[in-house]
Amino acid sequence: MRPPGTGHARRAVARPSARSPGRAPPRVRPRRVPCTAGSGTRAPPRGVPRGPSRHYSGGEVCRAPDRVAGIEHDTGVAVQGGDGTGRLLAVSDLHAAIGDNRRHVDAVRPHSDADWLLVAGDVAETSTDIESTLRILAGRFAKVVWAPGNHELWTVPSDPLRLRGEKRYRHLVEMCRELGVVTPEDPYPVWQGPGGPLTVAPLFVLYDYTFRTPTASSKEEALAQAEEAGVLCTDEFMLDPAPYAGRDAWCRARVMETEERLAAVDPSVPLVLVNHYPLVREPTRVLRHPEFAQWCGTELTADWHVRFRTAAVVYGHLHIPRTTWYDGVRFEEVSLGYPREWRARGMALGTNPCRQIFPEVEKP
Ligand SMILES: [Fe+2]
Ligand SMILES: [Fe+2]
Repeated sequence: MRPPGTGHARRAVARPSARSPGRAPPRVRPRRVPCTAGSGTRAPPRGVPRGPSRHYSGGEVCRAPDRVAGIEHDTGVAVQGGDGTGRLLAVSDLHAAIGDNRRHVDAVRPHSDADWLLVAGDVAETSTDIESTLRILAGRFAKVVWAPGNHELWTVPSDPLRLRGEKRYRHLVEMCRELGVVTPEDPYPVWQGPGGPLTVAPLFVLYDYTFRTPTASSKEEALAQAEEAGVLCTDEFMLDPAPYAGRDAWCRARVMETEERLAAVDPSVPLVLVNHYPLVREPTRVLRHPEFAQWCGTELTADWHVRFRTAAVVYGHLHIPRTTWYDGVRFEEVSLGYPREWRARGMALGTNPCRQIFPEVEKP
């Protein structure tokens, strides 16, 4: 296990393309843009009350694509090829309680009866919205695999499900099982279609505030910085870590448990890791508010994509859909995000937001 604070020196480097073997494409060079004061308040999703005036009621709103620079955002559906034997598709951050996002949920469709769908969290906030959305998706795809996002773990006042923390998570796991949806608690399924065999591992490892700024020496300092910047995450009010002492303690427990499971996977079959958060810190370096990165993952997973034989990592949460490479491993951010975010990317209402993970799409 990598100790906290040592896993963030890696840079995003694109691997040599198939078109020009041996020639490395340009590095992805994310650069930050200045914060815009006062932009942190927005209307919360349905069922979520407005909280204190200086926190992000939408969770990840500080990294809208129009607020980062130097990043090439992918737009629309990235699907090509296919011979009728199935595709491994992925999506996250459907935020299905938002009216216009429902149009995209309607468009999440397979291309064949053999397609699988990986859902990397932030389906919705209430248990009823989560269940109805996953039920729809499970009825369309040969298999649906779900990893929880922070929004599923919120306990919002309008949710008839009053469970919190671990109990809420376990309840959602049972709900998924009734729907036939694979969860992080289930045996990892093996994709045998094009690009396979691949072991698909949905993860739930949360975050532990280690993606903090260089000037914050502790979680407490990092939280104080975020509050000062007006970007305190709604998780601090809605995501109860019970029975753990904190979300970071819950994260550490999940990391230990998950490491054991991944270590027991047959190494002859590559993994597709599905997590709500990026397993490495680099994707968060484009955030408009660097103080928000502390809610975006943990340094404890920084070497998982190389320690465990990994073919691809699928994640969301950042609402910055794109493909990057770290240590030769492909990372796919597959989120839809909020309406103003996907509109800013030029995405038309009702477009299928899925991204194709396997067979691998050749990028121009
Ligand atoms: Fe999200
Ligand atoms: Fe999220």
